[in-house]
Amino acid sequence: MQTLETRDPVELANAYRLAISNFSTGVAIITTNTDAGPAGMTASAVASLSIDPLQLLVCIKSDLPTRHAIEESGRFAVNVLGEGQEQLALQFATPRPDKFANVALRDGFDVPVLKSSIAHFVCRLSAALPGGDHTIMVGDVVDCDHVVDAEPLVYYSRRFSNLCSPSQHARHAYDWHLELMM
Ligand SMILES: Cc1cc2nc3c(=O)[nH]c(=O)nc-3n(C[C@H](O)[C@H](O)[C@H](O)COP(=O)(O)O)c2cc1C
Repeated sequence: MQTLETRDPVELANAYRLAISNFSTGVAIITTNTDAGPAGMTASAVASLSIDPLQLLVCIKSDLPTRHAIEESGRFAVNVLGEGQEQLALQFATPRPDKFANVALRDGFDVPVLKSSIAHFVCRLSAALPGGDHTIMVGDVVDCDHVVDAEPLVYYSRRFSNLCSPSQHARHAYDWHLELMM
């Protein structure tokens, strides 16, 4: 029987990275505002947590500036990216002072809400819990909205992807059926 104890820790860590990359996720930009200006980062470790109360969570590596900025401001937004927004995801995944250059924001929010997101959640920080080398940021959702029938940006196997549209699914099924008949 294979037990965790028998596996070399380095080999196991590599196997974990590969295995978890087969869990497809969406991609979001996590934003906040501080006295020094806006802060933001790309994140895929986002999950719905609770309906009553309305809560979601984001896992952020503990030494990242955005994590400290959220704890300082006590609020954050989760901006869900849509199909074709890979460049925006990369822009916010690279440490640089001008992450918000050429990024259009919606008016009326005290945290940056991206105009081009397909959904957004505005949160009050409810808890920052230890999670290994990450911090689990729990947010109380105070506002949210979405674009109807939007196509999401997907992260799978360490690359960006998108969902097959229903017509593509139909075409694949049709091709497969034709092959069986030949
Ligand atoms: C697709 C994608 C998903 C990511 N998801 C996360 C995540 O869930 N949590 C995290 O801490 N970093 C994640 N990162 C890495 C951060 O975006 C990156 O470290 C960024 O530079 C952090 O910004 P900051 O240094 O300004 O805080 C992800 C990067 C990419 C490209």
